[in-house]
Amino acid sequence: MVPFAKTGGLGDVCGALPRALEQIGVGCTAFLPAFRSTLRSGIAVESTDHTFTIPIAKKHVACRLLKATLPNSSVTVYLIDQPQYYDRDTLYSDDSGEYKDSCERFCFFNRAVAEAIERLELPVDVLHCHDWQSGLLPAYVKTGYRNYAWAQNTKTVMTIHNLAYQGSFWHLDMPLTDLGWEHFNLHEMEFYGQLNLLKTGIVFADQVTTVSPTYSREITTEEFGCGLERTLASRGEDLLGIVNGVDYSEWNPCSDPHLPQNYDLETWQDGKAVCKSSLQTELGMEVAPDKPLVGIVSRMVDQKGWDLIIPLLHRWAQDEAFQWVILGTGEKNYEKEMADLASRFPRNLSVRLAFSEALAHQIEAASDLFLMPSRYEPCGLNQLYSLKYGSVPVVNATGGLVDTVTDTTPSTLGDEIATGFICTDYSIATLEHTLQRAVKTYLHEKPVWAQIITTGMNMDWSWGNSAKQYQQMYERLLASP
Ligand code: ADP
Ligand code: GLC
Repeated sequence: MVPFAKTGGLGDVCGALPRALEQIGVGCTAFLPAFRSTLRSGIAVESTDHTFTIPIAKKHVACRLLKATLPNSSVTVYLIDQPQYYDRDTLYSDDSGEYKDSCERFCFFNRAVAEAIERLELPVDVLHCHDWQSGLLPAYVKTGYRNYAWAQNTKTVMTIHNLAYQGSFWHLDMPLTDLGWEHFNLHEMEFYGQLNLLKTGIVFADQVTTVSPTYSREITTEEFGCGLERTLASRGEDLLGIVNGVDYSEWNPCSDPHLPQNYDLETWQDGKAVCKSSLQTELGMEVAPDKPLVGIVSRMVDQKGWDLIIPLLHRWAQDEAFQWVILGTGEKNYEKEMADLASRFPRNLSVRLAFSEALAHQIEAASDLFLMPSRYEPCGLNQLYSLKYGSVPVVNATGGLVDTVTDTTPSTLGDEIATGFICTDYSIATLEHTLQRAVKTYLHEKPVWAQIITTGMNMDWSWGNSAKQYQQMYERLLASP
């Protein structure tokens, strides 16, 4: 939840949605773990009068409830403070892999949230859970866990941001949930012999949502369902896709404090040129105003298409006619491949293996094209940022990418709706072909390129629209028996 903690788009969404909901009259309170990065973010945190213990794994683990406010809003954010679980350098894993006590850390989180709501006497109409980390809460509500008074009339929503991350653990972790073994079955919490926290949320929630309409359909198929396709399909109409929005107070080239020059629809040509030369200088690349600069900001995981990007770079990075700026962190094999490539082609290819908010913004502004050939993409935010920053997205035809980018064709240009370039299938050949199509337009059809950029910059992907869809969904739920 930006600015408290972030590893990817989930952070952006959870930081922006409560604020957008508040603006249309939906009051929100949020809960998240008091991660080390949260407590060190500089945001003011107060203590509360609430300290309690949760019996978990034969221990009595203390929870101290802290409190902060989401900036630019009056949304209260309660932080579940337990240093043994959350006072670590990173959120979910370190160099040796996923933390071994992930299940315990997040079972504790779910149980502490349920207990905190009771103690705070919060009136909760709808409990909106995001991803596996909060997947137990719908089960607590539905099963009458601990007879919590707050849960009597509460509706639950489970939002799936990425079905590939399910919180799937050894079955003997079941007692950590404090729900009886009778729930460890195929129709509830069990998935191929394991305890599955996301499945739990999907099964028990009153409503299941995901972050784009196309992904909501894709995940009911074997190809994209990660084994949960039947569970999801069985929810029928209860599975809804609402596309993410963009927080334009954070992501707007007109006011972005990370850019050497701000720009808008009228001044983008100059503004982007300044941002481009400044980034090229800063990264030690050749300052080349006319060479197409391709940007990537992405987690380095299979989802994001690195098995296409790396072979593509082996062929293209030596071509002095292009430049590449890549920012990302993730799997060690991808990091190593990218570092090797960058050392071979330092003039054309700059790779930063880091998490840098400032550089992410600068790449969006400086690049001419933004590459996002994801294998699957629940929604994707970077292509939406690219549209606003005039960096033309080149994407794969999947999930939220097809819901937000319109391919450039004679017909979409005629209708003035073309905003990017879409690969029709997931292959190196198609990616190469699509990128060539984009670069040809950039180099030889300047007015068309300008039209694509301005159409994208003109689009409004602000949260207002999506927040309204969430509000309608909450209202429907509250009106249902
Ligand atoms: P996902 O959540 O799957 O990673 P999204 O496109 O929804 O994909 O969101 C990614 C978010 O994380 C964006 O805000 C992007 O700028 C940010 N991001 C990813 N990697 C980095 C990085 N190395 N440094 C800074 N920001 C990053
Ligand atoms: C996930 C998805 C991404 C989505 C983000 C926020 O991390 O991979 O597509 O935009 O969540 O919903």
